[in-house]
Amino acid sequence: MSDTSFIPRVFSGIQPSGGLTLGNYLGAIKRFVSMQDEDYETVYCMVDLHAITVWQDPKALMHNTRELAAGFIASGISPEKSILINQSQVPEHAQLGWIFNCVARMGWMQRMTQFKDKAGKNAQNASLGLFGYPALMAADILVYHATHVPVGEDQKQHLELTRDIATKFNHDFGVDFFPITEPVIEGAATRVMSLRDGSKKMSKSDPSDASRINMTDDADTIAKKIRKAKTDPDALPSEAKGLEDRPEARNLVNIYATLADISVDQVLAEHGGAQFGTFKPALADLAVAKLSPISAEMARLMDDVSEIDKVLARGAEQAREITAPILKKTYEIVGMVGS
Ligand code: TYM
Repeated sequence: MSDTSFIPRVFSGIQPSGGLTLGNYLGAIKRFVSMQDEDYETVYCMVDLHAITVWQDPKALMHNTRELAAGFIASGISPEKSILINQSQVPEHAQLGWIFNCVARMGWMQRMTQFKDKAGKNAQNASLGLFGYPALMAADILVYHATHVPVGEDQKQHLELTRDIATKFNHDFGVDFFPITEPVIEGAATRVMSLRDGSKKMSKSDPSDASRINMTDDADTIAKKIRKAKTDPDALPSEAKGLEDRPEARNLVNIYATLADISVDQVLAEHGGAQFGTFKPALADLAVAKLSPISAEMARLMDDVSEIDKVLARGAEQAREITAPILKKTYEIVGMVGS
């Protein structure tokens, strides 16, 4: 099937299930910002319905949703250029999600590694929503006929499932209705690792706060976390190949490259031969210079959340202009009587 009939449109989302991390920023938001200046319509979403697949305190969820919106805006997502929404205000996501629950197969869901990781040993006690989560994620994307989805590496399997759902729907109903979405997983920071363990991804749910940089951390905290980051005793190599078996060193170099908007080779051309005692302060200075203006702007926006709520209300209106006709047509294809 060719995608040429679909408008180039980007959709991506982040869960408001805790603070934003440097992983979210470098792996996702920074890319969202650059894509809004390319030839795409862009829609970015706080996926609150996804967040409640595990328990969320209601007050904290509201706070985290607004703070995430502040993070998007402070990082450079412009409500003039992009549609910014929280998922629950655009009901077509959940409505198409139900249709996709009836398209996706149990066996497909059982293969999802993220469900296995999150449900852990106690899968019988996980919510049904956590199991069905990827079908709602497919609906998030396809209810916009989105063609491109920028994400970090950990979402790749969910995007493959999105393609499977679109393909099966199109095949079952004999239509060419849903696009086969392209994942956009690019750059040196598609998998930012924990600062304490180079084999684990940096995550907002890691029990150790020292494992991650939060976008709300102050300058001293950022510098301290980088200074304490786990490393090996060797100096930095002068070529990328020399990072192959050094996950912690590679992680810090990848973070540097992405923050500075330069390649890994350029970082090593400048810092190759340096010890971590020299490189870490340089990285800390860079991180503080790039992140402090964002956290300051987030704090300013959070002082008066009515501005944020206005942006989200307008975003929901704009979004529904796209999603309502796509859902209506989906219902017709499936055979629902409408008036
Ligand atoms: P979430 O909220 O876990 O993460 C949001 C985005 O941040 C990326 N990310 C990372 N990238 C690099 N290194 C890391 N350590 C790191 N940690 C997180 C994620 O890959 C993601 O791009 N299921 C999604 C949310 C979602 C969604 C969607 C995404 C729901 N519907 C539709 C795209 C399209 C999630 O849980 O992301």
